[in-house]
Amino acid sequence: MSVSTRFFTWNRRLCHRLQHFLPHAVEHPIASFGGIVAQRAAARPGQRILDVGGGKTAAFEPNRDAGDFLIAMDVSAQELSRNQAVDAQVVGDASRGLPFADGSVDLVVSRAVIEHLDDPGRFVLDSARVLRAGGSCVHVFPTRWAPFAIINRAIPNAVARALLRMLQKDSPYFPKDNCGFHAYYRDCTYSRMRAHLERAGFEVVETRLGWFQSYYFDFFLPLYLLSVAYELAIRALGLRDLCPYVLLVAERRPPRA
Ligand SMILES: C[S@@+](CC[C@H](N)C(=O)[O-])C[C@H]1O[C@@H](n2cnc3c(N)ncnc32)[C@H](O)[C@@H]1O
Repeated sequence: MSVSTRFFTWNRRLCHRLQHFLPHAVEHPIASFGGIVAQRAAARPGQRILDVGGGKTAAFEPNRDAGDFLIAMDVSAQELSRNQAVDAQVVGDASRGLPFADGSVDLVVSRAVIEHLDDPGRFVLDSARVLRAGGSCVHVFPTRWAPFAIINRAIPNAVARALLRMLQKDSPYFPKDNCGFHAYYRDCTYSRMRAHLERAGFEVVETRLGWFQSYYFDFFLPLYLLSVAYELAIRALGLRDLCPYVLLVAERRPPRA
């Protein structure tokens, strides 16, 4: 192990010990996503669930006993080819429309995908089209003004990948082959996404905000502490559009009679 790797690992261990004392670090929306989707899926047997940007893993377990049918859609055929947990795979760009019939899906979900779309508004509108009336969606995404997202936008993608590889080599938060996809963070704030959903005819029924993002900086304790101070401040001030992670659950309103 090189000296720099040992240095980063030592800092990370220290930061992770401190993390137990940070009240806002406990419940992360990315971690809550699977349970929330599973709960929605369990509400009704035989649902057709569309996991957009499903990639190489299903981020939740479909309810096989209830006969759920899980479809993963992804722009990358290569990512999808490794996804064993689903019933069907569809290659397609979610910013260019969803290749499904009107009202043919019960649940549309995405985890860490909206930041990669160049037109989230179009994606949300098309989700409303493919969902049956009363169907719902669950989306969790990192947001535009999070410090890590600002840095990610400011540097070329190849540099961002190299930095992650170097600084976060052995981190449990950055699985080696599931990070570093090009991200735009377009419309990725609480209010912009909420507005897109409402404009498309959804009612937002649950919101979870995740304020903790300092694990991006756990390779160097002083930077980590600075980042923790920042997120505690924006949390205390309730600055929702600065909050680094958002999970939204929304239901498609039935059309007016
Ligand atoms: C960070 S990974 C998340 C994968 C998976 N949802 C998870 O939580 O493990 C982002 C995924 O979004 C996919 N993706 C990126 N742009 C996309 C687009 N325009 N349409 C559909 N999928 C896209 C990538 O190929 C990748 O599989």
